[in-house]
This record gives sequence, structure tokens and C-alpha cells, in this order.
Amino acid sequence: MEKFHQKLKNEKDRALFVELVHGVLRYKSLIDYYINFVAKKGVKDKRILNILRVATYELLFLEKIPEYATVNEACEVASKINPHLKAFVNAILRNIIRNKNQIEESLERIKDVDYKSYLSIKLSYPRFLIDYLEESYGLEKTIKILEFLNTKPPQSIKINTKKTNVNTLTQELEKNGFKYEINSRNNEIVLILKGNIKETELYKEGYFYFQDLASSLVVKFNQEDFKRAKKVIDLCAAPGGKTFNCAEVIDGFVVACDINEHKLDILRENILRLGFDNIIVAKSNAEVFNPDFAEKFDIVIADLPCTGFGAIRKKPDIKWNKSYQDIENLHELQVRILDNSAGYLKRGGILFYSTCTLGKKENEETVIEFLEKHKDFSLVSLTTIFPDEFECDGFFIAKLRKEGER
Ligand SMILES: C[S@@+](CC[C@H](N)C(=O)[O-])C[C@H]1O[C@@H](n2cnc3c(N)ncnc32)[C@H](O)[C@@H]1O
Repeated sequence: MEKFHQKLKNEKDRALFVELVHGVLRYKSLIDYYINFVAKKGVKDKRILNILRVATYELLFLEKIPEYATVNEACEVASKINPHLKAFVNAILRNIIRNKNQIEESLERIKDVDYKSYLSIKLSYPRFLIDYLEESYGLEKTIKILEFLNTKPPQSIKINTKKTNVNTLTQELEKNGFKYEINSRNNEIVLILKGNIKETELYKEGYFYFQDLASSLVVKFNQEDFKRAKKVIDLCAAPGGKTFNCAEVIDGFVVACDINEHKLDILRENILRLGFDNIIVAKSNAEVFNPDFAEKFDIVIADLPCTGFGAIRKKPDIKWNKSYQDIENLHELQVRILDNSAGYLKRGGILFYSTCTLGKKENEETVIEFLEKHKDFSLVSLTTIFPDEFECDGFFIAKLRKEGER
């Protein structure tokens, strides 16, 4: 996406490009239902199918684009791939326009026979994910979560309190004509409702970084623990959100690790831009126990790789590139990394385990398995950030304490 995005010079074209790509990914099953309803034998050429998907998304969701413009444009693009298929594309799209009501009614009929299959098409999620979340939270809650994860997220920034404060930054936003909203749960998180804030001097000067409310809550909910800490390690730190939250409040230093060199470069750039002098960056594989870290830290942040279902609003492709096997594999990886992190804490230290996913296997069950192996740890709290309630990404935070006095 980045590659094509940069090629578009006009701001409006870029916004439409993102809308189309995310829109198709967000509603792929629903769009395919419409296409398959009229193309009885299916569409074999993937490129033609994707042209039809974009056009169908426009027909169903974008009222500002006239139907004839959508059809003409799709036919033009299709004829560049294969001139013989222009008429086929034209026929499919005109049939969709003509039969919209009939297609909707046929979908409603599935609702009465097989409700979860209907949801899987209407809300466009793989069936395994609906079943899995239902097992964790019940069907009613699952529907609320999935509906919210289909909404478009506003840009969310975290104010860098090392350089500025809420009043100064919001005054600057007003001066620059931005529409914004201060988050009610964390007033250092500001939602940008209109305007591209990355292109501003405010960004270059390091007055903020991009972060969702959910991710900021690990430190926000536990400010006192972080204020008291002298040494913190963030095992999977890039691009740096939680490391920065922590560096803003602690009277000590954070060791920020990651395995990915490219992501570490982004982390380093961010540290320079934001002006932190209490972060040490280290390349380290969290799956391998590092004896240099043994019993050195007051707090370990383990914000671990996960399926990322909580972040579907921003990355709707997650819907289609994860399987149940991924959930199991990531659960095992999380347990392995947590095993190591236990050894990095001083006695009385705190382990924060977090994920940007939903579902019990990677969240509660990972914690339970950890606690079964590490009898010297006790559970302080488990928090699931439900996206529909908090109006942010879905997220999970476990707080665990190692026995002994600090
Ligand atoms: C969920 S992201 C971390 C987000 C970060 N904590 C933040 O708040 O911005 C997970 C990170 O784990 C890193 N990672 C994956 N496997 C790892 C491993 N074995 N050791 C260390 N880092 C790893 C990835 O490169 C990725 O940057």
C-alpha cells in the first residue's frame, strides 16, 4: 500500500485509495456474495475479480461516486488487462445494480437458516473467528465487537509530555485548522478527526507520536508502578509506543529490545525525534534467555506478537491472513517468551503481559499457563479492553507480581 500511496500526489486520491483498499478488505465476503450471486460460474481471473470487488464496494458503500462512473472506470481498467473481458465486467456490475434488492433478500434468508454464516457474510469475518470469539465472550458481545472493528479509525496521537502538554498542543492543532477530540480515558491521547497531522512541523518537532488509546493504557493504568521503577525492559518494543509512555514517567531508564533490525531503526528515529535520553535500544531475541538481563529489572513489559484481532480497524487484512493454527502457534510463542521474562525481574518486580488481540487462548490462557509454571508469581489483574466499550483497538493487559520485597 505504501508504494502505491506515495505515487498519488493528490490528497483526495490518496484518501480514496485507502478507502477502497480498506473497504474491500473490510467487506470482502459481503462483496463476493454480491459478485457470485450474478456471476454464477464465479470469476476465475484474480485481477478481474479484484476490479469487480473495488467497483462493487463503490456501488454498495460510496454514495458520492455515480454508478455509471464506477462501471465505466472498472470496464476501462479491465480492458487494459484483457479487452475481451470488458463486456463481462460491464454485465456483472450492471446486474448487481439491477438486482441489489433481490441479493439483499437472499442474504436475509440465510439469516433465518444459519445465523453465523449470515454474520460471516454480512459483517465479513472468517467463520472460525466468529466461532472462536463466541466461545470467549458469547455471541451477542462478539457481534458488538465485530461491528465496531468494521468502523474506520480516526488518527490517534499521544502527546509527548517531555516536550509539550495538552493545552499547548491543542492550541497548535487549532491554529493549524485540525479538528480533534481529547480522549476521556486518557487526556494525553487526542483523536485527529480531520487533517493529515504527519505532514506538520508538530510531528517533526516530536510533540507527539502515533498511538491508540488501548496501547497507552498499560502505563496509564499503572502510573504509580512506573514512576517508582528505576529499570524497565520492554522485550518487543518497536515501534516504541509503550517504551515512550514509560520513558515519559519513569525516573530511570528503559531498555527497549526488538528482534527486527528495520523496526529497531524506526524505533531509533522516533527516539531522536521525540528527544528521549533515557532509552537504551538493544537488538535481542525474546525467545532466547539473555543472562545479562537476569534479575535486573523492576518492570518487564511483554507486549508480545499476537494475531492482532483487536487492530482489525486499522489493518483489515488481518481478517483474511490468520487461521486458528496461528492462534495456537502464537499462544505457544507467548508462553515461551513469558518464561524467559520471569527471570529478568528482581524480587517483587512486575510483569506486564499485553496483546492487541481478543480471544482467550492468547490472553487468559497464556497467563494461566505461565502461572502454572511460575509459582513465585501472583496475578494482580486481568483487563480486556473491549473495542466497542472503549472505542479503541481491542487489547488485553495482565499484571503479574514476582514474590518478595523490592
Ligand atoms: C506488538 S508489536 C510491539 C509493539 C510495541 N510494544 C509498541 O507499543 O509500539 C510486537 C513486536 O515484537 C517484535 N518481535 C517479534 N518476535 C520477537 C522476538 N522473538 N524477540 C523480540 N522481538 C520480537 C516484532 O518485531 C514487533 O515489533
